[in-house]
Amino acid sequence: MSVKKRRKKRLRLKSSFKRFLIYFAFFLIMLIYTINESIKIVEEFKYKETYEYKIMEVGYSKEEATKLIEKLPNEKLDQILTKKYNENYYQIVNQKYYKEKNFDKYIEYKEYHEKTSFEDVIAIVNVHANAGWYNETFKTNTNDNYLMLVNKFNYLENDYERIDLQNVSLQYSYAGNKAASIVIENFENMRNEVEKELGVRLMINSSYRSYKSQEEIYNEYKKISLKYADSYAARPGFSEHQTGLAIDITSLEHKTAKEFKESEEYAWLKENCYKYGFVLRYPENKEHITGYNTESWHFRYVGNKAAKIVHDENITFDEYYAFYIEK
Ligand code: DAL
Ligand code: ZN
Repeated sequence: MSVKKRRKKRLRLKSSFKRFLIYFAFFLIMLIYTINESIKIVEEFKYKETYEYKIMEVGYSKEEATKLIEKLPNEKLDQILTKKYNENYYQIVNQKYYKEKNFDKYIEYKEYHEKTSFEDVIAIVNVHANAGWYNETFKTNTNDNYLMLVNKFNYLENDYERIDLQNVSLQYSYAGNKAASIVIENFENMRNEVEKELGVRLMINSSYRSYKSQEEIYNEYKKISLKYADSYAARPGFSEHQTGLAIDITSLEHKTAKEFKESEEYAWLKENCYKYGFVLRYPENKEHITGYNTESWHFRYVGNKAAKIVHDENITFDEYYAFYIEK
């Protein structure tokens, strides 16, 4: 073959190889594009199967959907998908003391009490107050010891009595009072501090009360009216006084409840009693949670850890128990 022919052949080969390369590159690009598109379609298909997508389709924002998914079990999410957009769902799961097991009760309560804040709905349901006072009752778990809960839903049996009840010194109480030893010890420390700082002497007016003596007190109040009795006194079995962990405090300087409520020592106790493991048990503006009118005198020993949380978070002991102890 002549040199010319060989060159021509080489050139032909070169240009067909070039063509091949161009076709191959084109083919590769098409292949990658197709694979990419297929992945996108599969991913989109998969995304449409997620709760996030489905919940957002109902009308919830991404933030709302994320929160609902984080806080609710799948069966509840499935229910939400069958209903119209409802802002309450998100607001409820977003509350600090939200408990998953109470979700339906919160929703129901809010539906019937539109004006109640979400915070209150959570607190009311958590402490069982949605059921109505004394309507849903449980035996107190006395194994919780100084954290035991006694309120309008949790009761002690009529023969319950702490074994470590001790006489309260007559130096700071009136005849016949008894209380748990841990209460006496902490009250004494608190009393010493109040005397040192304010020059006044705290007194214990009432502490342990048996089922029987609570019954007598409650019946006395009931002579005025049932409503009055239930606002100030616990029904027998439902009084914290039977735990031996509650004390009614005033001071020698301010003996009546009215004087004491206005006193410096009451203000001090509200701010500092947690340092000695006590909480003010029936504070102002919490009647819908405790079921009692404000009692500026009734303090309850719950230990330092719980008392600090109750104080710092401005909650009642009922709320503390519902959120931190009750399963
Ligand atoms: N005064 C409180 C509520 C009691 O009777 O136990
Ligand atoms: Zn009391």
